[in-house]
Amino acid sequence: MIVFKTLRWKNFLSTGNNWTTVDLQKYRSTLVVGHNGSGKSTMLDALSFALFGKGHRNISKTQLVNSINGKNSLVEVEFNIGRTAFKIIRGIKPNVFEIWQDGTMINQSSHAKEYQKILEQNIIKLNHKSFHQIVVLGSSSFIPFMQLQASHRRDVIEDLLDINIFSKMNGIIKEKNSGLKERLKDTEYSLDLLKNKIESQKKYIRDITQINDDEVKVKRDQIDECNTEISELTFKTEKATTHITEHKHNVEKLYGELHNTRDKLGQYKHEFGTQIKRVVKDAKFYEDNTHCPTCDQDILEETRTIKLKESTDKAKELQAAISKVEEEATANTEQLHTIQKDLEEVRAYETCVVSHANTIKRLHKQIDGINKDIERLSAREGDLGQANTDLNDMRDQTEIIVDERTVINEEYAYNNVMGEMLKDTGIKTKVIKQYLPVINKLVNQYLQTLDFFVHFNLDENFAETIRSRHRDAFSYDSFSEGEKQRIDLALLFAWRMIAKMKNSVATNLLVLDETFDSSLDHDGVENLMKILNTLSEDTNVFVISHKGEILEGRFENRLEFRKPKNFSEVSEMGLQVA
Ligand SMILES: Nc1ncnc2c1ncn2[C@@H]1O[C@H](COP(=O)(O)OP(=O)(O)OP(=O)(O)O)[C@@H](O)[C@H]1O
Ligand SMILES: [Mg+2]
Repeated sequence: MIVFKTLRWKNFLSTGNNWTTVDLQKYRSTLVVGHNGSGKSTMLDALSFALFGKGHRNISKTQLVNSINGKNSLVEVEFNIGRTAFKIIRGIKPNVFEIWQDGTMINQSSHAKEYQKILEQNIIKLNHKSFHQIVVLGSSSFIPFMQLQASHRRDVIEDLLDINIFSKMNGIIKEKNSGLKERLKDTEYSLDLLKNKIESQKKYIRDITQINDDEVKVKRDQIDECNTEISELTFKTEKATTHITEHKHNVEKLYGELHNTRDKLGQYKHEFGTQIKRVVKDAKFYEDNTHCPTCDQDILEETRTIKLKESTDKAKELQAAISKVEEEATANTEQLHTIQKDLEEVRAYETCVVSHANTIKRLHKQIDGINKDIERLSAREGDLGQANTDLNDMRDQTEIIVDERTVINEEYAYNNVMGEMLKDTGIKTKVIKQYLPVINKLVNQYLQTLDFFVHFNLDENFAETIRSRHRDAFSYDSFSEGEKQRIDLALLFAWRMIAKMKNSVATNLLVLDETFDSSLDHDGVENLMKILNTLSEDTNVFVISHKGEILEGRFENRLEFRKPKNFSEVSEMGLQVA
């Protein structure tokens, strides 16, 4: 509960450079009187300005500064909350805003708006609107609760029931959720990105695997072809080598022998030819000569005949021998011809063996080359390994983000549920529903005290129905001004009672500025006094009224405002009531 102690102001509206001080706690009831414009309502502006930085009447801050002095406007209010003493100092020209707690000024490092927020939300826990419904009711600006729109009625009641904390919580949750929504968007975006990356990586891996496999297969096929060729050539070489082994020696030997024979036969033929020529020469000598020129003796006929016969026989013999040699030479030539072919065959096999050996060598070299290619392709498996590692990293990352998304989604859903609960239709409605019967009961009790016998009911949409005996349900506007005044009073005190119960906007102070003057006839006064008498000991009520003469003597204290020489001043006459 806020216990207001003192309020003072200077250079504020019609007040000059001297402090006007009002003790807010000393008397339970104070009647405030004075002529029009004497400075009574200024009290409301001073309090409103001290707490909220704006006047009670609807004017700008600079308009609050006393127009004659034009500067050093200053307002101070002191109050206690529990055992803590607070003092708020505000000034215009120059600007001052200080909150003092138990003699120490609260750190002003924050922005003025934030500083005001600290005051409203953490200290007095009261906003401008509720303050003017429950604490300070001005004639000019007071709109009775019943004439407020439903949303404003809700604000006042939420303040009273101290449930606007749920609206604040809802605001925080909404803010949080919009942050979470952003984060969700970010994670979705990251997941999309990773999904695309994973797809490309998979394709890349598929491609390099495919290319490698295909290329290795082609290389292996090439090696197979080489090996097949080598096998064929080896087989052919073996066959050729066998042939060479089997035939070469004999063929060469035979060839050599035949060659020798041919040479010998040639010699024989030559020799026999030479012998024949000699024999023919001898025969010719004996044919032509009967006398030997050498020994110069005659050659006997008989000798000549014998010699001729011998020559002829010898020639015949030699001719036969030549024929035989020629026959043998012909046979030898045929044999040589045959063996020459065999020899050529052997030579051809030998050439093949050499050529196959060269080809096999070349094929082995080719296989080595291909194997190197395969090794190089296998080295690309390294790239594949890295690609697979990268893919796994991406999958891990995806998992982390999916987990994160789950957490965010859970928090988001949880906040949504909380949000539902904190909405106007959630917990707040529950609390309001719980308190409505209490509010209605209190209002009806106050109405009875005011001798107004109607049954008032406020529903959860803050719409009222008022029933009186033998009448239909009425709304507030159906009633007369005096009746409306009773309803307003009943509500006002019901709110204050609720505030006290809830320890929310409870204060010791109640200022009524001509609030009920308009309909303050004799009954009105009685009604007001009745209600004031129901207020607890710790309430300090200030009634500003022009009906001083009717109210005179019924208050503990009397404050009179005057404005001599253009500046307002106040005088106090305590203890009016005996
Ligand atoms: N900036 C200002 N400087 C000086 N005087 C001002 C300034 N603003 C308003 N006033 C005057 O201050 C006076 C005090 O006004 P206030 O509302 O307190 O009077 P009141 O006693 O409540 O009168 P009423 O009975 O008519 O309601 C008025 O005469 C008003 O014209
Ligand atoms: Mg006034």
